Amino acid sequence: MTVLLDNPLRIGLQQERTPEPVILVIFGASGDLTQRKLVPAIYQLKQERRLPPQTTIVGVARRDWSHDYFREQMREGIEDFSTGIGSEAQWQDFAEGLYYCSGDMDNAESYQKLNNLLSELDEKRGTRGNRVFYLSVSPNFFKPALRQLGAAGMISDSTKTRVVIEKPFGKDLGTAKSLNRVVQNVCKEQQVYRIDHYLGKETVQNILVFRFANAIFEPIWNRQFIDHVQITVAETVGVEERAGYYDTSGALRDMVQNHLLQLFAIAAMECPNSLEADSIRNEKMKVLQATHLANVHNLDECAIRGQYKAGWMKGKPVPGYREEPGVNPNSTTPTFVAMKLMVDNWRWNGVPFYLRTGKRLPKKVSEITIQFKDVPLLLFKSVAQQTNPNILAMRIQPNEGIALRFEAKTPGPDLRTRTVDMDFSYGSSFGVATADAYNRLLLDAMLGDQTLFTRADEVEEAWRVVTPALNAWELPADPETVPQYEAGTWEPSEAEFLLERDGRRWRRL
Ligand code: BG6
Repeated sequence: MTVLLDNPLRIGLQQERTPEPVILVIFGASGDLTQRKLVPAIYQLKQERRLPPQTTIVGVARRDWSHDYFREQMREGIEDFSTGIGSEAQWQDFAEGLYYCSGDMDNAESYQKLNNLLSELDEKRGTRGNRVFYLSVSPNFFKPALRQLGAAGMISDSTKTRVVIEKPFGKDLGTAKSLNRVVQNVCKEQQVYRIDHYLGKETVQNILVFRFANAIFEPIWNRQFIDHVQITVAETVGVEERAGYYDTSGALRDMVQNHLLQLFAIAAMECPNSLEADSIRNEKMKVLQATHLANVHNLDECAIRGQYKAGWMKGKPVPGYREEPGVNPNSTTPTFVAMKLMVDNWRWNGVPFYLRTGKRLPKKVSEITIQFKDVPLLLFKSVAQQTNPNILAMRIQPNEGIALRFEAKTPGPDLRTRTVDMDFSYGSSFGVATADAYNRLLLDAMLGDQTLFTRADEVEEAWRVVTPALNAWELPADPETVPQYEAGTWEPSEAEFLLERDGRRWRRL
């Protein structure tokens, strides 16, 4: 099926689609993301014949690079961070569609120069004025770039031009609103693709299929059967070379406001009326609107921050966060956040959602855990003090899959019970590696499918949910008051209390 760019149809999560020929203009083309993710994703999509041959990429950045130097850099990226170039002929064919234009993000002349190049390329490559502008630049440049694109008339045709905006979308509710206003002044919402790469992960999309393509789970997906939900996104990496960004951001902005709240929204939303982008986004919006920190009057009971201190990872000593290069030695920026959310609606009233994320934790693992209520009567008390509650674990990454934990009788004449797992794994069931999230998201942006991108109101609502914690943690504080956890261990003890207070425990992953 071919979706025409000049038909801004929102088609939702469908299959086998090929976009119209288009120029992907990447602002911030000398950066890491372009070399590691964006261009390798386009290369792979082209190899899989998901993109028309005319597809063209124009990299834009301040550095004075030639087309050829840009091509070399991108080739290195594909070789180092992806499956490689395949054959030399394939690479040559791809490289012919790669161009570079040096320019300043806030200089009108640079946009004139770019516009001239794009018109030339329309002639040469047959891209018919179709453009996707990808803002992979520092967030300070989002507004200037949008204004310049608007002033140059480069995004005035809403049927042929789109803008993809990387995260972070604002630093808080106020800045997100202000950025949304600029966006809305220069283009229409249907042209805007706010990236949250978690939505491009197969396993995240599968939550929708799991919940709404199966009849047996939806009837128990509510307060009557579910005791609580845990959402964990644990990372082993530290701050890496991103201290400049991370120390002014921290885990709440970097992970919770976007990735964790998107996982939450998809797990908690009502069934949409259709797979159209806005139908799904309306439901996510509705559940976010009903969501709040469990007790905004006593944040210690519902929002915990933490910072990693020196410890060990894979047998090697690693420094604490405040000792990392570029981090303020008195920083109070959280590298770990745990919070308890409540949802005021009929489905979830009284069911806590516990979220946690952190860097330098013992394992890289992301999971949504649905813990069901205990059985109403313990029939087997003569053989077990208690049985473990049923758990449905949706593993987002790695070992992508779903497991259902339940009690079983152990073999033999004695009546004994043990907890066992019924396990579905993507790897063994489908035998293919799941594609990188950027492959899917770039393809969707080229197709004009906004389903997996966050809408203006959704982003703002997510900021609203985290605002009480954000405000409290912005206040000047003695660094010693920020709970610490040793690198390579799970959460600080304060985060354990968050659940222990409710008679619950974090699942050990
Ligand atoms: C990014 C954050 O959005 O997501 C990083 O800025 C984080 O700090 C990354 O490491 C995690 O993504 P993934 O796909 O590796 O779980």
